[in-house]
Amino acid sequence: MVELGMANSSGALSATAMSAAEISTSEMPTRAAPVCWLNGKLVAPEQATVSVFDHGLLYGDGVFEGIRFYNGKPFRLQAHLERLLLSARAIALEIPYSIEALTQAVLNTIAAAPSANGYMRLVVTRGVGPLGIDPSRCHAPQVFIIADALHMVSERVRTQGAKVIIAATRRLGADGLDPRIKSLNYLNHILARMEATHAGADEAILLNSAGRIAEGSADNIFIVKKGELLTPPVIEGALDGITRQVVLEIAEKLQIKFREVPLAPYDLFTADECFLTGTGAELIPVGYADGRAIPHCPGPVYHRLAAAFKEIVSS
Ligand SMILES: Cc1ncc(COP(=O)(O)O)c(C=O)c1O
Repeated sequence: MVELGMANSSGALSATAMSAAEISTSEMPTRAAPVCWLNGKLVAPEQATVSVFDHGLLYGDGVFEGIRFYNGKPFRLQAHLERLLLSARAIALEIPYSIEALTQAVLNTIAAAPSANGYMRLVVTRGVGPLGIDPSRCHAPQVFIIADALHMVSERVRTQGAKVIIAATRRLGADGLDPRIKSLNYLNHILARMEATHAGADEAILLNSAGRIAEGSADNIFIVKKGELLTPPVIEGALDGITRQVVLEIAEKLQIKFREVPLAPYDLFTADECFLTGTGAELIPVGYADGRAIPHCPGPVYHRLAAAFKEIVSS
């Protein structure tokens, strides 16, 4: 999925992503090859292929997880696998591996990865079937994992804050596709992200059909108002983000008041602080929202949460 200025270990970074996020040369990734696991085996990247008849490719019919690993250990793996299983159940996709087998696959892939710190994508597609969207004749879901050394966010964005816009493209509602399903369908997020890039911004915030804030194109959103941390409830159209959950846990521990509450663009424009959360992005402060300066970026609440987050992932 498109993250804030994401580059991969082959150095591939689109010109548009590059201009949007200005990856600095000091952050350029190493050029070690990514590691792939496909249907039970570690394989060379060039052998990690799925069929052109796979409905994951033809229709975005499948589910996935993006998982970070730090110091050779997957972060919140159990939560990621639980979300993957729930996403798969929600679309009636039977994953041909137990949670234990998937755990082992993830661990084996990390052990073979070019670096002890990186990012992995665990994907389950509907598998090969006849042309036509009906999945009933797709009998062999494909499961693969890609592990790579990724540097998602530029130093500029991390220290000075991201510029976000509110996209014209709306988040699909739960009556269309439940936001808790992490599916291979990201087209409306991609369109929103393109709007951000075209506007010279780093990220797009998607509104739900009622015009309230849902989330970023690949991240959840938090604001701080009068010392209180606020984020939209998942039902407003946000993925039930694992980083979001970690931030809420940290807030509770640090006794920072927080609420899950519907937010309007007004709340974002008048926030004291704002930041984005995601597996790839971790915690990213926001400096501008549709041209309005967010007064504290990075702000004091962000600093406390980000420091605690860093401690958790490095422990
Ligand atoms: C649409 C969307 N929202 C939020 C997130 C953040 O979720 P997490 O913290 O689990 O990575 C992601 C991550 O990929 C995402 O794609």
